Amino acid sequence: MNQLFRRKSVTILLAEAKSDEHKFNRALTARNLIALGIGAIIGTGIFVLTGTAAANYAGPSIILSFLFSALGCVFAGLCYAEFASMIPIAGSAYTYAYATLGEFLAWIIGWDLILEYLFASSTVSVGWSGYFVSLMKDFHIIIPHELCSAPFNHVIGQGWERTGSILNFPAVALVILITALLVIGIKESSKFNNVIVLIKLTVILLFIGFGISSINVDNWTPFIPENTGVFGAFGISGIFAGAGVIFFAYIGFDALSTAAQETKNPARDMPKGILWSLVICTVLYVAVAGVMTGIVNYKELNVPAPIALAIDRAGDIQVWLRPYIKMSGILIKVGALAGLSSVVLVMLMAQPRIFYTMAKDGLLPPAFTVVHKKYKTPYITTIVTGAFAALIAGIFPIGVLGELVSIGTLLAFVIVCAGIIILRKTDPDAIRPFKTPFVPLFPILGMGICLVQMAALPLDTWLRLIIWMAIGMVIYFSYGKRKSKLLADQIKNSEK
Ligand code: ALA
Repeated sequence: MNQLFRRKSVTILLAEAKSDEHKFNRALTARNLIALGIGAIIGTGIFVLTGTAAANYAGPSIILSFLFSALGCVFAGLCYAEFASMIPIAGSAYTYAYATLGEFLAWIIGWDLILEYLFASSTVSVGWSGYFVSLMKDFHIIIPHELCSAPFNHVIGQGWERTGSILNFPAVALVILITALLVIGIKESSKFNNVIVLIKLTVILLFIGFGISSINVDNWTPFIPENTGVFGAFGISGIFAGAGVIFFAYIGFDALSTAAQETKNPARDMPKGILWSLVICTVLYVAVAGVMTGIVNYKELNVPAPIALAIDRAGDIQVWLRPYIKMSGILIKVGALAGLSSVVLVMLMAQPRIFYTMAKDGLLPPAFTVVHKKYKTPYITTIVTGAFAALIAGIFPIGVLGELVSIGTLLAFVIVCAGIIILRKTDPDAIRPFKTPFVPLFPILGMGICLVQMAALPLDTWLRLIIWMAIGMVIYFSYGKRKSKLLADQIKNSEK
């Protein structure tokens, strides 16, 4: 039993970080981190899931879901910032758990992060496909439904059904293309990211700017639609269920913590980067949700490209807007496509990093640390990740995927918040360049808000999470537990 809870000490982790020091260039400032954060955060959540969540769970009160979810992220973000400044290693929550909760829970969280990044890249690709199809339509190219949507759909209470579609080809094509880029080695320079962030922000501000005058306040009444009798389908419980779904929109700030080793002054800049990117995105999300549900009745928002729908409607409502609508509609779609591609890129790039860290610890096969001789990229893990991501993106609907990513990431946040409280007790003297304020209150609030969002997600999503975790446990007990490098080191030390 003790084996399961063997921990890597903070001293060992820091020594590992030091030995890796030469590989990294401490170049990132708070401003770079904010741009990176916004680059990773704004994506399918706001461009697609806001519509689905408003239509199925919360109606216009999706605005409250966004605020609730943001609050949880701020508390969790502060805990991430403490860990990132203290243990600046690329493994993120996996590494923090290894130091606080022991190997088994670290494995669980690592496996959970794999779920987050793998399924998130598929989810965002499906979102990309929706906007791509809509843009093609503007140029009179109609992609048949069977070739651009999921062959399976899940209806709550009724289970899985065939949709008659063959495969979501655009989503698969995007994943293959980005995987190929990542194998060859794309330098995701800060400049490239800044341009994408600028495009995303412009698109969102354009939408708010154009849309605001077309709001019909009648669409906001009732602000909280009456519950249908099913938990989570509108009413107060719907606000929490909506938060569980749109929580996806905030995912990405946690990935910033993996850049701690490349940050000039992580103690000062990491909390700034995390908090400011969260604040900026929250303000934009609330505004977009308000405008979207104000222009289109929430019942009609269950579509793949809701922002595009709302902008089309704005043109129907305001005659003066019509000449601009077509152009701005196209601009918005192009911007959304660029923005979503960058999120897929970040996710597919982050996944091999997690594999790498876990394989270095001996919990996954050594092949996962192999780097291509010519391209200098972790090509094996990149191709494995890409193949799975393409398959998942091709056959599953966006709602199911997004909810699974949300529940997995929420679980990671809960563990990180718990880790802060535990490490303050077990290692009170460790150097903490940044300290989460009001411990244990803030981490407890973070855990509470994340657990409420998890609880509000459908039972099916919980079952999928449990199945995923069960697969992870089989792998750990049949492989990682025996091959653990920490175990090997402990045996070596006891023999001395
Ligand atoms: N937050 C990212 C998105 O919404 C993952 O696409």
